[in-house]
Amino acid sequence: MIPIDSKLPSVGTTIFTVMSRLAADLGAINLSQGFPDFDCDPELIDAVARHMREGRNQYAPMQGVLPLRQAIANKYEAYYGRRYDPDTEVTVTSGGTEAIFDAVAAVVRPGDEVIVLEPCYDSYVPAIELAGGTPVVVSLTFPQYAVDWDAMRRAVTPRTRMIMINSPHNPTGAVLGPAEIDRLSALVDGSRILILSDEVYEHIIFDGLRHESMARYDALAARSFIVGSFGKTYHTTGWKVGYTVAPAALTTEFRKVHQFVTFATNTPVQYAIADFLAVRRGLDELAPFYQAKRDLFLRLMEGSRFTPLPCRGSYFQLMDYSAITDEPDADFAIRLTRESGVASIPTSPFLYRQRPPTVLRFCFAKKDKTLEDAAARLVRV
Ligand SMILES: Cc1ncc(COP(=O)(O)O)c(C=O)c1O
Repeated sequence: MIPIDSKLPSVGTTIFTVMSRLAADLGAINLSQGFPDFDCDPELIDAVARHMREGRNQYAPMQGVLPLRQAIANKYEAYYGRRYDPDTEVTVTSGGTEAIFDAVAAVVRPGDEVIVLEPCYDSYVPAIELAGGTPVVVSLTFPQYAVDWDAMRRAVTPRTRMIMINSPHNPTGAVLGPAEIDRLSALVDGSRILILSDEVYEHIIFDGLRHESMARYDALAARSFIVGSFGKTYHTTGWKVGYTVAPAALTTEFRKVHQFVTFATNTPVQYAIADFLAVRRGLDELAPFYQAKRDLFLRLMEGSRFTPLPCRGSYFQLMDYSAITDEPDADFAIRLTRESGVASIPTSPFLYRQRPPTVLRFCFAKKDKTLEDAAARLVRV
């Protein structure tokens, strides 16, 4: 055996794999991993099949097929008032995860620091570490999951190359508002700091709130890679198609990485998504659709010993279980799966410094019947 000195020694099997496997083994209701248990629009599947039959089955252009890049650019203009050039500022990727990896790999060098806000999506820190950068973790406040701007200011150094933000936020459902945008703008003003803005839940935002895309703000857009995912928007997480929009100079560097990570993304799926996105099909329905699911889940959980935390976007609901037990979150998540038949996700795998609070994440991107069955079990806990 040739000894391997792991480049990611602290990375094991992700909690999503562990919990989904446990749910499958035990026949539990799976509210753990973030994916819908219902299908996408059948016409989207028809569109993929049609593009396949019409022979769009070979490599797509490295930067993505033109109709999809045009549709993405048009959407940004219509929703956020910024025109990105489809030729030089829009790149289609194999999911948001690839886009995050490419952006970090493109601009982060050994010695650079990258600020992440914990709890954070689990791919951020490994991407930074593989690029040789140093993750600088700033904790969101509990239980509001708000940004501590004093801590952010203290975290910024001359070596800070990037700040990674995510709104609507996984796993907490927190959303950045205009006040946070002002604080962020002031923080990076005059610096060389780039922003990676993970906006994969951009259309899943509730209670009449407006998604504060970096694209809305000149000074922020000028230094931002914005990441999106059609897996979230079109209920097709298994298709793994996402994208990045960024100013041309950033996109040039981004594409240098993308072309050697995946080179290009699934061709017929890109064309089918372009057909839908060009007419903005399904976008505006997404927020009310998921808000109704959030509200249903909350209503069904009334009278349980779980206490919901505010969820203003994404398809995740955090529940405080301190009225039930003070067990560590991962232990309780496993016990809840075994004893009550509902799988959830602890927040500890999203945390690096903070002591994990007594909360679990439940994904409500599920059929109403699934939520009803899960809640019927959870209210008995
Ligand atoms: C916050 C966040 N960013 C990025 C992604 C990755 O998206 P994709 O499935 O398109 O790779 C996810 C998926 O769960 C996510 O929750």
